[in-house]
Amino acid sequence: MLANTDCVKCHAQQPKEIEANGAAHKTQIGCQDCHTGHRPSSPNNIPQCSMCHDGQEHFKLQGCTGCHNPHSPLQIVLKGDLKAPCLTCHDTQNAQLEANPSKHTTFACNFCHAERHGVIPECVQCHKPHSEQMTQGDCGKCHQAHQPLVVTYGADTPNASCGACHTTAFQLLAASKYKHRDVTCVTCHQDKHKTVPQCSDCHGLPHAEGIHKKFPKCGDCHNIAHDLNK
Ligand code: HEC
Ligand code: HEC
Ligand code: HEC
Ligand code: HEC
Ligand code: HEC
Ligand code: HEC
Ligand code: HEC
Ligand code: HEC
Ligand code: HEC
Ligand code: HEC
Ligand code: HEC
Ligand code: HEC
Repeated sequence: MLANTDCVKCHAQQPKEIEANGAAHKTQIGCQDCHTGHRPSSPNNIPQCSMCHDGQEHFKLQGCTGCHNPHSPLQIVLKGDLKAPCLTCHDTQNAQLEANPSKHTTFACNFCHAERHGVIPECVQCHKPHSEQMTQGDCGKCHQAHQPLVVTYGADTPNASCGACHTTAFQLLAASKYKHRDVTCVTCHQDKHKTVPQCSDCHGLPHAEGIHKKFPKCGDCHNIAHDLNK
């Protein structure tokens, strides 16, 4: 009869792995809960995971030991292109990717969440910012990784971030003498990219009715919002 403490006399590696990173396979079970018997009398003493893990979507996967070394079960090295296995635990991220098709939708999850479980990449590992002033900290103001083409933004987004692409609007407004200069881009173009406001959203119809009838467009007298130079 063998005790769990005997194994190390002939097998150096597995006890060392379990000691270091055995997780619940160290604290809740011993060698012989998995390895029942020993050769030569028990020629196959390698356990099936399903002996103890059953009843969840994740446990229906093939090839458990391709991801988990049973002696260090949480030291997971992610190999190949993985998506379906991730979805056994994370379906909301994929739902978002599918509902908002972009190039990101076509990638495996571990194209971005690479090597180890739970790694979060920075956008700037793969993309250049829109301007030199912009950093990783800004990306999340406008984009989310799982729906990158749905651009939304908060009230704290600085004009310079929009100005990275809209140089004309940015420069006209900054040079303007009129009070719109002190209004931010996102105060007028609220929340969602490409929203364009009506002047009357903020000002109503400020002049006499007859004037608005005769000149229905504010721009007839006020030029454009970025440059109220009339
Ligand atoms: C006296 C030395 C000795 C002790 C003690 C010992 N083993 Fe082994 N074990 C061996 C040898 C030799 C093999 C065969 C190695 C080979 O074929 O490469 C082996 C093979 C194995 C295998 C592989 C079986 C397979 O099909 O590949 C497992 C699992 C195993 N031992 C587990 C244990 C466990 C668990 C303990 C402690 C309860 C233990 N051994 C104690 C010598 C020992
Ligand atoms: C959670 C179940 C479990 C526990 C606990 C466990 N093992 Fe294993 N062990 C396995 C599985 C499964 C394999 C086959 C690994 C594979 O196919 O990649 C294995 C393989 C082995 C092998 C064969 C060589 C190898 O790595 O393939 C030895 C020897 C071994 N274990 C020894 C031990 C010893 C000693 C302990 C206790 C210190 C232990 N195991 C604890 C599940 C376990
Ligand atoms: C003899 C029973 C037994 C076998 C066989 C077994 N496990 Fe476990 N495993 C447990 C127990 C008990 C726990 C802790 C409770 C739980 O998470 O269900 C556990 C936990 C785990 C954990 C989480 C570890 C933690 O600390 O949170 C992983 C991962 C795992 N097992 C993978 C495997 C894989 C992969 C196999 C097959 C190679 C396997 N187990 C085989 C009993 C077993
Ligand atoms: C594609 C890689 C992959 C495969 C294949 C895989 N797992 Fe996992 N498993 C993971 C990841 C990633 C986690 C999450 C680990 C964490 O939370 O740190 C995990 C967690 C676990 C856990 C602990 C969490 C829980 O829900 O209890 C157990 C147990 C487990 N796996 C067992 C298995 C079994 C059994 C199989 C085969 C039927 C298997 N795994 C196949 C990657 C995989
Ligand atoms: C067995 C279940 C399980 C599997 C399979 C699994 N995860 Fe996880 N994952 C978790 C748990 C539990 C957490 C921690 C709790 C949380 O933040 O939701 C987590 C967290 C994460 C995180 C966030 C870490 C953070 O800091 O917020 C990422 C990213 C992640 N997993 C990606 C993946 C990828 C990619 C795969 C497939 C290769 C995968 N997971 C497979 C259970 C799993
Ligand atoms: C691991 C690399 C990687 C990471 C990390 C990454 N991306 Fe991407 N992204 C790509 C690749 C590759 C493309 C496709 C480029 C092409 O085809 O020109 C892409 C495309 C895009 C697109 C255009 C989508 C389309 O369908 O046209 C946007 C927007 C985008 N990424 C934003 C981001 C943002 C924001 C982050 C961070 C939250 C991020 N990406 C993180 C690799 C990455
Ligand atoms: C293009 C790179 C990329 C791809 C592909 C990708 N992610 Fe992410 N993921 C990220 C980034 C970056 C974050 C951090 C949050 C953010 O910036 O929106 C993240 C966050 C997460 C989180 C943490 C919780 C959350 O939602 O913020 C989980 C879990 C996760 N991703 C799982 C997945 C799964 C599962 C897949 C595959 C279906 C996947 N991711 C595909 C880049 C990616
Ligand atoms: C102020 C909002 C804003 C910020 C901050 C921002 N983006 Fe964008 N991004 C956009 C808009 C708007 C588009 C264009 C969408 C379109 O063409 O409809 C875009 C497009 C992209 C694209 C698609 C290819 C391209 O260049 O047109 C990538 C990749 C991208 N952004 C990455 C990033 C990264 C990385 C960061 C952080 C360094 C970032 N973005 C910060 C608003 C922003
Ligand atoms: C990555 C570059 C990029 C960034 C950053 C960006 N935009 Fe855009 N924007 C575009 C592109 C490309 C278009 C489409 C241009 C076209 O259709 O002629 C556009 C269109 C617009 C339109 C609609 C124009 C029309 O004619 O309907 C508005 C309004 C707008 N952007 C405002 C903003 C605001 C506000 C910000 C900052 C929160 C911003 N943009 C950030 C690239 C960008
Ligand atoms: C999101 C709200 C908003 C929108 C949309 C908007 N404005 Fe304004 N406007 C303001 C604010 C705020 C002021 C400054 C009021 C103050 O400080 O008294 C202002 C001031 C003005 C002034 C006075 C300028 C000055 O320097 O005295 C004029 C004229 C004006 N707006 C015309 C327009 C016209 C024309 C449009 C459409 C092309 C428009 N506004 C769209 C918010 C808006
Ligand atoms: C027929 C020309 C004309 C039209 C059309 C016109 N405005 Fe004006 N607006 C003026 C003049 C002239 C002033 C006074 C300028 C001054 O006092 O320096 C003015 C002033 C304003 C002011 C500043 C009022 C204040 O109290 O400071 C706002 C705001 C304004 N207009 C908004 C609008 C909006 C919104 C429209 C369209 C619905 C519009 N205007 C259409 C000629 C016009
Ligand atoms: C006071 C409100 C207001 C502010 C502040 C504002 N816009 Fe606009 N923007 C408008 C209105 C209204 C239009 C529609 C054209 C018009 O009538 O002037 C417009 C049109 C646009 C367009 C499409 C037409 C064009 O000129 O290319 C873009 C792009 C744009 N704005 C970007 C910006 C950016 C970037 C900022 C900040 C630097 C900004 N806007 C600040 C109200 C504003």
